[in-house]
Amino acid sequence: MSLAELERKFGRRLARVTTNVVVARPRLWRLFRWSTRAQFDRLAPSWDSMRRPQAFAALEVALDAVPAAPKRVLDLGTGTGLAAFIAARRFPTAEVTGVDLADAMVEQARRNAPPELAERLRFQQADAVELPFESGSFDLVQLANMIPFFDELARVTAPGGHVVFSFSAGPETPIWVPPERLRRALGEHGVADFADFEAEGGTALLARKVRGV
Ligand SMILES: C[S@@+](CC[C@H](N)C(=O)[O-])C[C@H]1O[C@@H](n2cnc3c(N)ncnc32)[C@H](O)[C@@H]1O
Repeated sequence: MSLAELERKFGRRLARVTTNVVVARPRLWRLFRWSTRAQFDRLAPSWDSMRRPQAFAALEVALDAVPAAPKRVLDLGTGTGLAAFIAARRFPTAEVTGVDLADAMVEQARRNAPPELAERLRFQQADAVELPFESGSFDLVQLANMIPFFDELARVTAPGGHVVFSFSAGPETPIWVPPERLRRALGEHGVADFADFEAEGGTALLARKVRGV
């Protein structure tokens, strides 16, 4: 195995361990923030070449099921921005904000932004545990292959708004949270009305914020 392959394998393991620990104990995120940021800053230049063409198929199917077109969309852990572009295309009147911890990802997302969408797209660096947005700022919050921080994602979702979680390779995705775990945590945060989706080996969960907590 080459050094690059070894590094990739280690990175995937680290992402899974980080996800498991942080979902169980969100306060421990501070122990992983630095390594996660460094990992994704390093991966940013090659991230787009590492992805399967159908990586967002499950996300797209879940977005099809969102009943009313959102006006304000947040893509948490946006990486190089592809899921944000998908949302902007799907909802042609929506303003889409992509947030990422890693500066290099945010810079790459800005460079990747298609000119015809640029007016409705905004990318900024922020940590998903402490988002720089008012409560209820977004009608749709989506996470593609991203560690969920339930307090904050529920806070910034407007009452009646939707959240979508997608995992490009289902349970094989390094950052993966079992659907029953997602449902339990979301339920504790006033998010319910769950719907599951599968496409091209990926999985997604759509849910609605039914009450404030
Ligand atoms: C596996 S990548 C997914 C990127 C993109 N959504 C995709 O599917 O191609 C996870 C992304 O989440 C970002 N991330 C991880 N923890 C974060 C946090 N606490 N706040 C914001 N972004 C975070 C990483 O920097 C990385 O870009």
